[in-house]
Amino acid sequence: SNHELEQFVQHTKYKLGEKLFIPGHHYQKDEVIQFADARGDSLRLAQLCEENQNAEYIVFCGVHFMAETADILTNDAQKVFLPDMRAGCSMADMADIGQTEIAWKKLSDIFDDTILPLTYVNSTAAIKSFVGQHNGATVTSGNAEKMVTWAFEQKERILFLPDQHLGRNTAYKLGIPLDQMAVWDPNLEQLIFNGPLEKVKVILWKGHCSVHENFTVQNVEQIRKQHPDMKIIVHPECRREVVALADDAGSTKHIIDVITNAEKGSAWAIGTEMNLVKRLIKENTEKHIISLNPNMCPCLTMNRIDLPHLAWCLESIMETGTHNQITVPDTEATYAKKALDRMLELV
Ligand code: 13P
Ligand code: SF4
Repeated sequence: SNHELEQFVQHTKYKLGEKLFIPGHHYQKDEVIQFADARGDSLRLAQLCEENQNAEYIVFCGVHFMAETADILTNDAQKVFLPDMRAGCSMADMADIGQTEIAWKKLSDIFDDTILPLTYVNSTAAIKSFVGQHNGATVTSGNAEKMVTWAFEQKERILFLPDQHLGRNTAYKLGIPLDQMAVWDPNLEQLIFNGPLEKVKVILWKGHCSVHENFTVQNVEQIRKQHPDMKIIVHPECRREVVALADDAGSTKHIIDVITNAEKGSAWAIGTEMNLVKRLIKENTEKHIISLNPNMCPCLTMNRIDLPHLAWCLESIMETGTHNQITVPDTEATYAKKALDRMLELV
């Protein structure tokens, strides 16, 4: 039963003590997040893994790319585990390294040496390594503006992987007009742009988050009609049109801060993953909070980490010292770390 599993996890945590560290992303289920030693957005979790150099076993409650990042940032004596190997990220899977190499070659033929690659941390270690090798950096939703500004101090143009929406929303916020943004379609192996190529400042990889694309202009219009006093806050993985119509947009941490500090009695529609929205509803009973899309939007891969998988992972670690270990090959890790360090030094 759930109760027995909970007791087992608690007991194992107690037994392993300081040797065990469980980071949990804000999108994790309550049944899992209750056991997290630290909660955070992608940026915070990356920083915590870097700081926590003592934990021998890191059981990552999040998705695959986050566990890879933890492995890259920790030392060789530390092992990182993902309770369910099927916990991937559909957005990260939209940029594969072969496609990225083809894109880079074709874009370099067009734009010579004027492009700097940036990748959202929601990408594979191979992509981070590619970006690190080409003097670029990673970004998170919490520091994207700072990182894009930095990139334009290095080069005339940027290639932003793999989320076109975070890339477009960030560049737009920094004052870059939409008609200076092109899209790279990895399937067509083609740049999509209407106008003279020298105008291109930002090249957006054609990837997206299948969870955040579920928040639509129609959802916004519906809220404006039904609840004229309600404020709308969304994650910048949402489409440009949705972010434009919302009252505010920001990382999961930003959303949590805004809602937590909002006035009693205020009303909010939130455009982000279901588990976080549900938690905010529960923790802010004196505010009126709903999901921007009435069909709550879960991240199915985040949800693969559940209490049974966490318990199973801990049980195996106790018995054998390992379970679903995530190991990034050394050469890849070296360059990926360069991309991550460029970000972590700046923020
Ligand atoms: P942040 O945690 O950076 O806000 O990103 C949200 C997300 O989609 C994580 O996969
Ligand atoms: Fe990936 Fe979107 Fe899920 Fe985040 S919410 S892990 S970006 S699919």
